[in-house]
Amino acid sequence: MQYGYFDDKAREYVITRPDTPLPWINYLGNEGFFSLISHTGGGYSFYKDAKLRRITRFRYNNVPADEGGRLFYLCDGDTVWSPAFRPAMTPLDSYRCRHGLGYTVFEGKKNGLRASLTVTVPMHCDMEVQKLALTNESSEEKTLTVYGGVEWCLWNAVDDQTNFQRNWNIGEVEIEGSTVYHKTEYRERRDHYAFYSVNAPIAGFDTDRDAFLGQFRGWKEPLAVEQRTSFGSIASGWAPAALLRLAVKLAPGETRTFLFRLGYAENPEDRKFTALNVINKEKAHRMLASFGTEEQFDAAMEELRAYWDSLLSRFTVQSSEEKLDRMVNIWNQYQCMVTFNMSRSASYYESGTGRGMGFRDSCQDLLGFVHLIPERARQRILDIASIQFADGSTYHQYQPLTRRGNADIGSGFNDDPLWLVACTCAYVRETGDFTILDEPTPFNNEAGTEVPLLEHLRRSIGFTVSHTGPHGLPLIGRADWNDCLNLNCFSHEPGESFQTCSNFESGKAESVFIAGMFVKYGKEYADLCERIGLRNEADTVRERAVNMEAAVLAHGWDGEWFRRAYDAFERPVGSNLNEEGKIFIEPQGFCVMAGIGGAEYGRRALVSTEKLLGNGFGIELLWPCYTEYHDYLGEISSYPPGYKENGSVFCHNNPWITLAYCTVKDGNAAFDLYTRNAPAYIEDKSEIHRTEPYCYSQTIAGRSARTYGEAKNSWLTGTAAWSFVAVSQGILGIRPSFDGLTVDPCLPDSIRECRITRLFRGTRYEITVRRGAEKGLFVNGAPVPGCTVPLTDAPVCMVQAVI
Ligand code: BGC
Repeated sequence: MQYGYFDDKAREYVITRPDTPLPWINYLGNEGFFSLISHTGGGYSFYKDAKLRRITRFRYNNVPADEGGRLFYLCDGDTVWSPAFRPAMTPLDSYRCRHGLGYTVFEGKKNGLRASLTVTVPMHCDMEVQKLALTNESSEEKTLTVYGGVEWCLWNAVDDQTNFQRNWNIGEVEIEGSTVYHKTEYRERRDHYAFYSVNAPIAGFDTDRDAFLGQFRGWKEPLAVEQRTSFGSIASGWAPAALLRLAVKLAPGETRTFLFRLGYAENPEDRKFTALNVINKEKAHRMLASFGTEEQFDAAMEELRAYWDSLLSRFTVQSSEEKLDRMVNIWNQYQCMVTFNMSRSASYYESGTGRGMGFRDSCQDLLGFVHLIPERARQRILDIASIQFADGSTYHQYQPLTRRGNADIGSGFNDDPLWLVACTCAYVRETGDFTILDEPTPFNNEAGTEVPLLEHLRRSIGFTVSHTGPHGLPLIGRADWNDCLNLNCFSHEPGESFQTCSNFESGKAESVFIAGMFVKYGKEYADLCERIGLRNEADTVRERAVNMEAAVLAHGWDGEWFRRAYDAFERPVGSNLNEEGKIFIEPQGFCVMAGIGGAEYGRRALVSTEKLLGNGFGIELLWPCYTEYHDYLGEISSYPPGYKENGSVFCHNNPWITLAYCTVKDGNAAFDLYTRNAPAYIEDKSEIHRTEPYCYSQTIAGRSARTYGEAKNSWLTGTAAWSFVAVSQGILGIRPSFDGLTVDPCLPDSIRECRITRLFRGTRYEITVRRGAEKGLFVNGAPVPGCTVPLTDAPVCMVQAVI
């Protein structure tokens, strides 16, 4: 069943009813100011850091869920309604929510009044702008009372929800004309304030939430709205808000438009005030003036559209598969941008108060983003490398505002260092910019410790090589990619975090997955070394990769698939010898992608993978699921069977299997797996899948779960980047390489031909892939050997791949 439809021409998902199984959200903003917005107008805004600089309040785990957000009420006679359905929740005569790229539009209609509310964060601007257009479609004049509002968060989102003994005393606002300024803590150490304003004279305001709501009421039916009034309340402590009231008359057929603007501004320390504790509002005035008219708003929407036109034109496909094209050309790339911006910090599942930018997460996100804006990817790589330690290990994450490593989230994940190699190699292949390798980059952000970025990669490789266990395989540390496979934790303390508890440090638990990574990324690092003249180093690392491959074949091959690990007692994990958890997905993906044992081992591993782990939504993480807790396995066995790492379809690593199929040249299997969880392909199962049909989720409950097929944790998942890599580089086969653009499709039989446009190092490659007897690659009509189009300075290059 569906709750809406894709409008590919407009690049929108159109939701046609408010009762979607879960809030279906969108992301606004690209640089500093970000907003999350649900299909009923819920969500919140922040500046750069969802924890430390939260602008509007969000109530987690609230009932009903997703209350608050954009607070619009239209009072028309006896009826009060909201253009986004919420908060008033009055049934509408018609409702649509159109989530587009960087904007969301709500269209509501009730009793002859039409409202269209367009919400966006314009480019280069620290404001959310909300354009409300009201049209009187009746034959009578309408006298309306209109409210627009937000509830402020007291900046630090954790403190805001916990430290009430202080918080209920510190809230402060200022009012000037049609603008409410939020200035809690501005009198002391903060140099920033927020504001909410409308571009018309207001009839009244409230800034004290509770005065506006009245006793025993929520956002559905505030007292002020019921009485069609405002109380002029000035917040002093408690919960500051900005609730603006307009008196609007509309003649029949008339439309009036209002711009509501939610902004954030900073002042230099010596220019904070114009009088005792009065904000210097110059910046806000300038910002409001830049979005005071409809023309300015429309121009910003146009700029946003042009921005996405240009970004998405860098990779497009036209095939006989509408859903494939939709995912590749629009939604998958859009989600890659969102995961690049957010890492795993702020979604409806990631609270924005816990995790900041993950080391491995952000490195992987880059793989799906680097072709879009390579310059931003460059800076991100340097930021990430700066939290690495001198021995090659690293913090697991950092806060975006401070860019400092965050020890609270834990460290000691032994796969982390290699992801830096993965993303840097991808960046250089994409751009040809070898200068990044020379960039002075500190360890642990300490001034004076800077070494060229290349040295960071070298330490990453060195860390893996120098941390091996009894079988010559890499030690797993706290965990590898699978955060929940904790072979050294042995936790018995209820509630203790598996990510930070003290490690037993067996010095024995090993990861076959990291071994696979090392073989793959070790070779990539060696290729990189060779390109910059480090021949000996390239040879040494290649030799290490060969040794590692031998260790995997000797100790990591179980007979029909790759083992997952060895535990702290040197017992295999992910082996037929185990009762449960006999086979895991991760090493099948990475060892096959790395070419360990060649296509022969690869095919056998993949047959076992599909046979034992396959379900209708993809490949489950492990089988059989663990039915009880094992301290020597850790968090993975803490989840009920079929959920999360204990045997759900963990979407993030399904594309590894798709790529593994491409490695062994099985295009039918690769595409079949791709379609099993690509959102557009399962849109018609929305009542089962439940999360948004236009973005990937982290996990889909497996066969052993009670709610098989139900997805959770949408948006912020490495699935976005890896799915894009799988479809663009594996199935469509367009791979940037050091020496040119590789065109090596691995299509299913059902796709007879396709056209691809790829912008690569300044050249637009127009690629046609078709079936034919005379196989090979033709560049501008002439055959070229192999499958790589050599680099060219030409602005356009015509390529034909006959497969
Ligand atoms: C984390 C990833 C991790 C994955 C598997 C995600 O929640 O963000 O870093 O690799 O879970 O455990």
